[in-house]
Amino acid sequence: MPIHYDASRRQFHLQTPNSSYVLRVTSEGYLAHVYWGPRLRNPKLPDALRLVPRAFSPNPHPNRPELSLDTLPQEFPAYGNSDFRAPAFQVQNPDGSTVTDLRYATHRILPGKPGLPGLPATYVESPDEAETLEIDLADNLSGLNVTLSYSVFRDYDAIARSARFRNTNTQALRLLRALSLSVDFADDAFDMLHLSGAWARERHLMRRPLRSGLQSVESRRGTSSHQHNPFVALMRQDAHLHHGEVYAVNLVYSGNFVASVEVDQFSTARLQIGINPFDFTWHLAPGETFQTPEAVMTFSNRGLTGMTQTYHALYRNHLCRGVHRDRPRPILINSWEAMYFDFHVEELEQLAREAKDLGIELFVLDDGWFGKRNDDRTSLGDWVVNSEKIPCGLDGLAERMHALGLSFGLWVEPEMVSPDSDLYRAHPDWCLHVAGREKSEGRNQLVLDLSRDDVCEYIIDAMSQVFASARIDYVKWDMNRHLTEVGSAQWPAERQREVGHRYVLGLYRILETLTQRFPHILFESCSGGGGRFDPGMLYYMPQTWTSDDTDAVERLYIQFGTSLIYPVVTMGAHVSSVPNHQVGRSTPLKTRGDVAMSANFGYELDIRHLSEADKQEIRRQVGKYKEIRQLIQFGVYYPLQNPFDEQDAAWMFVAEDGHEAVVFWFGTRAEPNGRLRRLRLMGLKSELSYTVTQDGRATSEEPVGGDELMAIGLAIPFPNTDFQSTTWHLRAVNS
Ligand code: DGJ
Repeated sequence: MPIHYDASRRQFHLQTPNSSYVLRVTSEGYLAHVYWGPRLRNPKLPDALRLVPRAFSPNPHPNRPELSLDTLPQEFPAYGNSDFRAPAFQVQNPDGSTVTDLRYATHRILPGKPGLPGLPATYVESPDEAETLEIDLADNLSGLNVTLSYSVFRDYDAIARSARFRNTNTQALRLLRALSLSVDFADDAFDMLHLSGAWARERHLMRRPLRSGLQSVESRRGTSSHQHNPFVALMRQDAHLHHGEVYAVNLVYSGNFVASVEVDQFSTARLQIGINPFDFTWHLAPGETFQTPEAVMTFSNRGLTGMTQTYHALYRNHLCRGVHRDRPRPILINSWEAMYFDFHVEELEQLAREAKDLGIELFVLDDGWFGKRNDDRTSLGDWVVNSEKIPCGLDGLAERMHALGLSFGLWVEPEMVSPDSDLYRAHPDWCLHVAGREKSEGRNQLVLDLSRDDVCEYIIDAMSQVFASARIDYVKWDMNRHLTEVGSAQWPAERQREVGHRYVLGLYRILETLTQRFPHILFESCSGGGGRFDPGMLYYMPQTWTSDDTDAVERLYIQFGTSLIYPVVTMGAHVSSVPNHQVGRSTPLKTRGDVAMSANFGYELDIRHLSEADKQEIRRQVGKYKEIRQLIQFGVYYPLQNPFDEQDAAWMFVAEDGHEAVVFWFGTRAEPNGRLRRLRLMGLKSELSYTVTQDGRATSEEPVGGDELMAIGLAIPFPNTDFQSTTWHLRAVNS
């Protein structure tokens, strides 16, 4: 099994198929971090902990000048007794002091992987799929106990880590900082990679060399955010898309987070991730526990591609849940960019009829169907159908869609309230606010206080009524602003800094209840596009609207960045009209189709007014996607050309058995007198030969060897206009 304990060395060896992670209890009882990297057979690591006396690194043990916590690599560093680097946690004791000293107490090795109460987490379906190590650490003076948990997956280069704090004191403790993970690396010869951006340009790749001091990304917005994703990777400086070592961490959490790397005076690097300590304190009463979110660590010695494939497989099989997890996802049409708030049931039906005629499978009614919602200034919270726009009611509309042969989906934004709503007039204190202060509005709306049970109950009831009121097959759960005036009328002064985290816990409780109550509904999460594209949300909702930017060129960057971690089946991607509503760019319909077809496919434009030629092209796209859907949604994804490094983008999807593949190439700018370039493929079977069709036409009479396709590759075309795309479909012949 993947966890070995060597009692003679007091050493734990956590082994995945291609990596090892080693920790050791020192003779003083400190839990030291010894190694993370390529898999080792039987690690002895005699000189991994290099202890030498250092000036200005104090020594907690008399006559031991070589031992300072400032230079000891540690698993879960404390604050206050000789380590000056960033601690993994900090606690305020009953006497007001903030020093703690955790020592090893005991450990357990358990089959499988226990769940985390109230929090999303990766899971196993049978106990032999993972093994879990729990190590108890204790600070005898304060009564603080910490249990570190490591679940090691049998088939993936992934370890899920978290920490649980318990107060065994007779007085309360205050948690000031409670990260999920800390890893000390013996050197700093890395680049830091993170996924950052803004609304409509989420998850762009940012890579920078590590420098002395602290470098971090974080969210203080109450959600994981468009601006930074709860992810960071350390890449060896020679590591690239397909080569080299990558160490990555991703937090299964949807609120404020911090992901940081500190390079110290001796050029060691400390990697950390967890709940952002900014504006966070947790009151831990005697006997109470606090569970941190889970961080998923992956190691790859195949560059970013190895990391990507580990996260994809793990999240598809051990994070996403429910009946839709393994089912092909429907091709949808969404009413938003087609009609915005301006529609009537007849127009919806016309759109749906056209959609059905083109082969689309699911009709999604977006914002504007409830209350007096004819623009974004009103009615959030009043979840009653607008009978002027939809006189037949939601049930009538759903029946009409089903009668046409389409499934029916609905948009909701349950965490919000418009000041102009019956809900707000009845419960003005149900939103996040601080008494006596102005409430900042974002998109004319306020955020409901999900730290309160009564508010969560209201949302569960209101949504249950909507979801039960009609034949609803799909729900898009939106969230269109970030949190300000984070305070609650319900909690006492000393617990106000808990409100941000309690909001996320309240949201998780709501989502758990509703997804269990309505298991047949396919949920898609959204936050102004991809503002909450994180593993926490994927645990409840197996797909996410990737971005409000539907421009095909912008999407190359957004989808490439997002798919670095998140499975392609989780990424919503729609063809929209031109000129594009976000950037005004006009791209060919074929290119828009190829970009959107590279993920979870749909349309978001008024197809009623398209030319016959465009409708024919959409029919072709829909037919093609149905043919390759299984490959795209559940095949193995290979990024081939990184648009952040090169002018073009390319990726491919290969069937698990290697017998079929589809390849996409996108040329953003036409090149005069174009260079002769080729695209080397990956993941094929060398011993097989494949027929190759390029955009539906056979490229050669004879099948081509998988070895050739991977060694020499396909010829990239020379488009004479911008924004062109090409796809190839490969099928093995001698299988
Ligand atoms: C933001 C979403 O990202 C859009 O797709 C759309 O649903 C609007 N909200 C509706 O208000």
